[in-house]
Amino acid sequence: MKINNNGKFNIKNVDEVVTLYGWVAKKRNLGGLIFIDLRDRSGIIQLVIKPENSCYNLAETLKNEYVIKVVGKIAERESKNLNLATGEIEVIVDNLEILNTSIDIPFSITDDTTALEDTRLKYRYLDLRRSELQNKMIMRHKITFAIREYLNKLDFLEIETPILCKSTPEGARDYLVPSRIFNGKFYALPQSPQIFKQLLMVGGMERYFQIAKCFRDEDLRADRQPEFTQVDMEMSFVDENDVMTTVEGLIAHVFKEIKNIDIELPLKRMKYDDAINYYGSDKPDLRFDMKINDITDIFKDTEFTIFKDNISNGGIINCLVVKNSADKFSRKDLDKLTDFIKTYNAKGLAYLKIDNEISGSIAKVIKENELNELKDKLNLENNDLVLIISDKKNVTKQALGALRLKLGRDLNLISKNYELLWVVDFPSFEYSEEEKRYVACHHPFTSPKDSDVDKLLTDKANCYSKAYDIVINGYEAGGGSIRIHDQEVQNKMFEALELTEEQIKEKFGFFVEALKYGTPPHGGLALGLDRLVMLLTDTDNIRDVIAFPKTASANDLMSECPNVVDEKQLKELGIKIQN
Ligand code: AMO
Repeated sequence: MKINNNGKFNIKNVDEVVTLYGWVAKKRNLGGLIFIDLRDRSGIIQLVIKPENSCYNLAETLKNEYVIKVVGKIAERESKNLNLATGEIEVIVDNLEILNTSIDIPFSITDDTTALEDTRLKYRYLDLRRSELQNKMIMRHKITFAIREYLNKLDFLEIETPILCKSTPEGARDYLVPSRIFNGKFYALPQSPQIFKQLLMVGGMERYFQIAKCFRDEDLRADRQPEFTQVDMEMSFVDENDVMTTVEGLIAHVFKEIKNIDIELPLKRMKYDDAINYYGSDKPDLRFDMKINDITDIFKDTEFTIFKDNISNGGIINCLVVKNSADKFSRKDLDKLTDFIKTYNAKGLAYLKIDNEISGSIAKVIKENELNELKDKLNLENNDLVLIISDKKNVTKQALGALRLKLGRDLNLISKNYELLWVVDFPSFEYSEEEKRYVACHHPFTSPKDSDVDKLLTDKANCYSKAYDIVINGYEAGGGSIRIHDQEVQNKMFEALELTEEQIKEKFGFFVEALKYGTPPHGGLALGLDRLVMLLTDTDNIRDVIAFPKTASANDLMSECPNVVDEKQLKELGIKIQN
């Protein structure tokens, strides 16, 4: 068995005789000496084979990615490489054995590889040999280990729930699995273990967690995969504070263990409405300032038709102030920003450059008193740039929220710190323009605020819930809620969502039945494990932290799936493919 991690040796080990295993990362022949960089999971160590050595001829045949075993003595290097952990030493090889050869590799296994991501995904097992990916996998392991350790101490039980199940209520499209035994019937892969974990509470398990695989057939983004992992948790006899305190304790533990970073607890809490008003997002990135300002009032008597018409149609006027930057933005730059906010459906971007003489797209139409009020309200100083959107509320907030993030990145305003917060008091419902009705903001088992139960049927727009999200550096790292454990409230919620008796019975009949048997008050949360690992390993590509990820079009390029299946299999399943 391999007992040595090659990367652990240093100057203190000089003169030790060691047996090492690994892959040939590089071979050079210098002045008759053969130098080999030997790679294993722990790093690289340099081997030297001298011409007088009996294995010299064999060493000459080595190629990249051959797997070898060597025995040799550790010696101090003449020319040291201080960039490498083992850079002060080398191993003078006595004995060499080739354990396996390798055909030519399609790309070089180095951290600065220029291979396209598609090539790396096709040969993922080779990509995984790169130290960058190996370190991420090691971090992922350490993070899950720290999570298990912490939750075990708090009396949580790790319990697995089914993968073949009935459709779950997270609202994305399901992945379906056809049944052979019941032709025409399907299992759904779980979008989350939501219903099962609530049933575990009904089943008296009190505290549950699971590192759970979830499956969602939705449009993919840089922080989404069709199959991803949650740290899924549920607790009985708790309120919102209990869940949030437990989860932030867990997060702080992970940050300390993995990064030696002390997270100040309790975390900030921000109401959902404030997050939207000030940051244009329910996952505000607090690593830089630049809040959105509401300046509708200042323009209430404006004669500038665009603003005037928008206000009289119930719209708002909001702005961002980019401090001391007016001179950095040319007309062309501002046109580009206008194109950018148009992708968020905003109709236009007005701007003012503050100087002794005001310039900008609305400089001619803004009145003296409006300008003075603006200067006052926004503490404007010379060389400030004011970027203004006048539109419907949701369009204005969303577009300015996105513009804020873009400016943060482009102007290098984002600090290197981690900024964590809770976003709380989510609305129970959101209006779906597509379905022309209110739909659940989280899922239909999320409890409304005690004070808002009566609004479930009468005032959906102002009904708030006991839901909370944990946000790290502008990512939704997790979300959860206190659940409804009272049947009457659950029935009201179903009614509010306009679900018929039949639909309820069909979709969640067994679950509604379970709620009748002494369900304890309960609540929980799920962290996106992949996102947490991304944040802790400083990458913004979710594929970097998953051993075998899928592409943005949900393909596995390595095994070439999804793929066709045998006619026989389809027949057994009673499925005919329509072309
Ligand atoms: P939610 O749908 O908010 O809640 O998911 C919880 C967390 O999972 C992560 N996440 C994803 N990560 C990668 N790829 C995806 N496609 C993806 N979708 C979600 C996010 C998110 O915050 N059952 C509820 C939790 C509960 O109420 O307890 C749920 O699944 O980080």
